[in-house]
Amino acid sequence: MLTFDLIKDNSKSGNGRDRSRLGRITTDHGIIETPIFMPVGTVGSVKAVSKEDLEHCGAQIILGNTYHLYLRPGCEVIEAMKGLHAFTAWDKPMLTDSGGFQFFSLAKLAKFTDEGVHFQSHIDGSRHFFSPERAVEIQMILGSDIMMSLDWCQGHPATDQQVAEALNKTTAWAKRGFDFWQENGAVNNLFGIVQGGMIKELRSLSAEQLTAINFPGFAIGGLSVGEPTEVMYEMADHTLPLLPSQKPRYIMGVGTPENLVTLVGMGCDMFDCVMPSRNARNGQLFTHTGTVNIPNAKYKTDERPIDETCGCYTCRNYSRAYLRHLYKSRELLSYRLNTIHNLYYYLDLMAKMRHAIKEDRFPEFQQQFFKMRQDQ
Ligand code: GUN
Ligand code: ZN
Repeated sequence: MLTFDLIKDNSKSGNGRDRSRLGRITTDHGIIETPIFMPVGTVGSVKAVSKEDLEHCGAQIILGNTYHLYLRPGCEVIEAMKGLHAFTAWDKPMLTDSGGFQFFSLAKLAKFTDEGVHFQSHIDGSRHFFSPERAVEIQMILGSDIMMSLDWCQGHPATDQQVAEALNKTTAWAKRGFDFWQENGAVNNLFGIVQGGMIKELRSLSAEQLTAINFPGFAIGGLSVGEPTEVMYEMADHTLPLLPSQKPRYIMGVGTPENLVTLVGMGCDMFDCVMPSRNARNGQLFTHTGTVNIPNAKYKTDERPIDETCGCYTCRNYSRAYLRHLYKSRELLSYRLNTIHNLYYYLDLMAKMRHAIKEDRFPEFQQQFFKMRQDQ
């Protein structure tokens, strides 16, 4: 089981507005400093970058997807290759999502019952079934350091009844997955996922039911699914204090740099999002003053790096003009260089937040972060 050392907890320090936390998660594959951002490597690869690139960016943990890896290359292959770490050569911590969210995003093909989820492969249309037990069993074969319970994520908007049904199944499945994990050696770690849509009472209920199960950590799911940002913040702010302070708290699928800086202040420890890597491939680059859309004509002969304050490989070597040219020419190198920059930016932002929390100046950091954007 992981250990979570809460080094600092500003929710206990008297200043009610700053609830940031500093922590350290120790897993079999190494240490994760929190708050942390986890780059998304859906099929066992963070698109366009190598393990060395990820290390350069400062990645401490990456995320994989059970749904995708189960379909391709399949459990037999990963089992034969002795797990996801050996298969991918990534020897640092890895978290796998359960598939709950993929069923939501590929909803047309999924049917939810009390027993689990029937779905069709997005690759070849073949039919499959995940029970909460099977979702854990597959993740045990993958050998991820942190496994996620099978959950049901509703989109937004949804009726109260839809949200309640998804919540009830999520709780029942969390219990079944947890029992299966316990009965099969309780290797690695399994997190529970709070659902409850945009309804505070249901978020409270879900948090109460899940925290009654002794998971080593908890996630908040069902956010950033089409609701306004303010509503997402409200739900996170409502739910985070309901989770045990001595365990890691993970907000799934969120978000922009602004979202991360806000949510760290609310006491969130872990994040994942496709945004830095996906947007990199679409030519959107993050900087400390906002975003740079690299195809823009104004960068045609711009000799500056993407961000003058960035220490990444891309910024140390290449101009905006060249990156624009690579992007416009659809050169494969564009994907790699842009992804390196965006991941470095995100991970560096997290490191800066940890540093600020450590030095008791997180509120000032937050203020400065948002001011830099306003000034542009
Ligand atoms: N990724 C983003 N949101 C979610 C969620 O609600 N559930 C799961 N399993 N993964 C997610
Ligand atoms: Zn850079």
